[in-house]
Amino acid sequence: MLTSHDSYSLARDALLAGIPADQRAQLAARHDGVAERLLSRLDALYGAQPDFAEWLETLFGTLGQLAAARPAALAALDTARAADPGWLAQPGMLGYCAYVDRFGGTLNGVAHRVDHLQKLGVRYLHLLPFLKMRAGDNDGGFAVSSFDEVEPRLGNNDDLLALTERLRAAGISLCADFVLNHVADDHPWALAAKRGEARYRRYFRVVRERSAVERWESTLGQVFPDVAPGNFTEVPPLGGWVWTTFYPYQWDLDYRNPEVFAEIACALIRLANLGVEVFRLDSAPFLWKREGGPCVNEPEVHTILQALRAIIDIVAPGVLLKAEAIVPTRDLPPYFGSGDARGHECHLAYHSSLMAAGWAALAEQRSDLLNRVIDATPELPAGNSWLTYVRCHDDIVWSTLKPEIADAGDDYFARLLKVTRFLAGESADSYARGAHFQASETVPVFGTNGMTASLVGLASADDDRARDAAEQRLQLLYGLAFAFGGLPLIYMGDELGQPNDDSAELASARAADGRWLQRPRLDAHRLAARDQPGTGAERVFTGLQRLAECRRALPALSANAPRQRLPVDDPALLLLARGGRFVAVFNFAAEARPLPLAALPGGQHWTDALSGQPLDSGQLLPGGSMLWLTAAD
Ligand code: GLC
Repeated sequence: MLTSHDSYSLARDALLAGIPADQRAQLAARHDGVAERLLSRLDALYGAQPDFAEWLETLFGTLGQLAAARPAALAALDTARAADPGWLAQPGMLGYCAYVDRFGGTLNGVAHRVDHLQKLGVRYLHLLPFLKMRAGDNDGGFAVSSFDEVEPRLGNNDDLLALTERLRAAGISLCADFVLNHVADDHPWALAAKRGEARYRRYFRVVRERSAVERWESTLGQVFPDVAPGNFTEVPPLGGWVWTTFYPYQWDLDYRNPEVFAEIACALIRLANLGVEVFRLDSAPFLWKREGGPCVNEPEVHTILQALRAIIDIVAPGVLLKAEAIVPTRDLPPYFGSGDARGHECHLAYHSSLMAAGWAALAEQRSDLLNRVIDATPELPAGNSWLTYVRCHDDIVWSTLKPEIADAGDDYFARLLKVTRFLAGESADSYARGAHFQASETVPVFGTNGMTASLVGLASADDDRARDAAEQRLQLLYGLAFAFGGLPLIYMGDELGQPNDDSAELASARAADGRWLQRPRLDAHRLAARDQPGTGAERVFTGLQRLAECRRALPALSANAPRQRLPVDDPALLLLARGGRFVAVFNFAAEARPLPLAALPGGQHWTDALSGQPLDSGQLLPGGSMLWLTAAD
């Protein structure tokens, strides 16, 4: 029998076997730098398998081939980024998120929108799923039928390669969704499992007895209680119930099986070799199941992610991993790695409780939940960053705020019911035009849907005053995302003030899943109006453009610069300091409030960074607006 040491050195040999002599030393050094962490993670997950040594050698052999196949331009990027891990933190990093078809029609069409992105200063483009997707319903592409082919409707692999080259030339990194928790029920693995092939049946988690399903269900939550209740789907050819955390056609992969890990790791590198620079690890918290618990954020999830990260660090170190973990603030830091892996798991993670708390603050006209979220947000190791945002293609998930609401001594449903009713336009004073998502009599609060413009009141504004106020609220929320410290993301359409989708084209999709409310096509009229002064699209666009420009020039706004909330008496205000010379002031009240000059660091002359005007001591901050203040040197 091989000792672990022997099996590790065989794996190392397999990795290096096909590497050209002039690149071997570099790859060996990368391997040796992370080998201990990688091997200990793989050993913990799969070391007990009888054929672990052979599996490891095969995996490393394939990774070596993928490393050898890495295109020269990407290898150069790897070297440059490995030498400058702080590149992600620059205040010039700005993201944009869109569906390929809604934004540009096809991948080639997206390439024609690069000038739009450049006008905003975008450096990172997250395209929602564009790989071959399930025929029929596919959860907006989150039911993937092939990790190796672009969805034919959107283009082909050559188009993807060409797009990534075009984007790189424009200084924009492409982020792709990587749906690693599940595959579509028409993915070849699922089809083979349905045909009874034992090898592929082991890729999925199949429970044979109804009683076992019930036992598991008793401790599990539900992601779609309304549209896809339960976590299992009966599939007779499998002889039981397959685990389906999301829709019944999205089959969870079984990461206890080392083949699954190896398939996924290699699929990710193959996409990286097509030029994808950032992977959004979809539904990361659900990768591991343990009976008797909620099956989210299990320790093995982090073991898996750390192993994936170490593989990236060897084969494609210019690539970034982003955790899509929509969990409370306190559960997020482990996604950046903890203990000896601190800083060595995902590079990025969505700060979804910050986003949700921003909306709650607007609806409640008070900032206390937001304050708690900010205070609970730790500083991150260099090379890591939060992903800050206002809206995305999903609902605003309220459960991420449970701990902060409990700490405030409030009842979760009672407090958030007021917020969600406000955002759904159900309270008398509400300007918002959002919609509840999956709320029911038993679970009165779940998610909220709607585009930013509709939620801040742009869509309901019937006079100039209401319109200006709504535009200010949009600027306030983006001002928070841009000033917080992280990589801010603009959601497609927000930069033009686009409202909820009401198209006939999406009517049945919206009826089946309310999240389609925030998935409109880019509005060609608004896009054309973007450059015409006096139009709504132009005002919103130039407002965000100005924020981005101003942020780029402020080193205090880099992701890793210190952040501090300054105490202030007024419960509607939030003062966020970044270093000693920058303070963002947010007024969540509907009415104007005096600027709390006494709360600002003393002895400084403050200037409004966006207008360049010096601060006037009697200045009022209009309701639902914000100011970025900088102190002169
Ligand atoms: C993520 C996506 C969401 C999708 C789910 C299942 O949460 O953002 O849109 O429904 O994963 O893949």
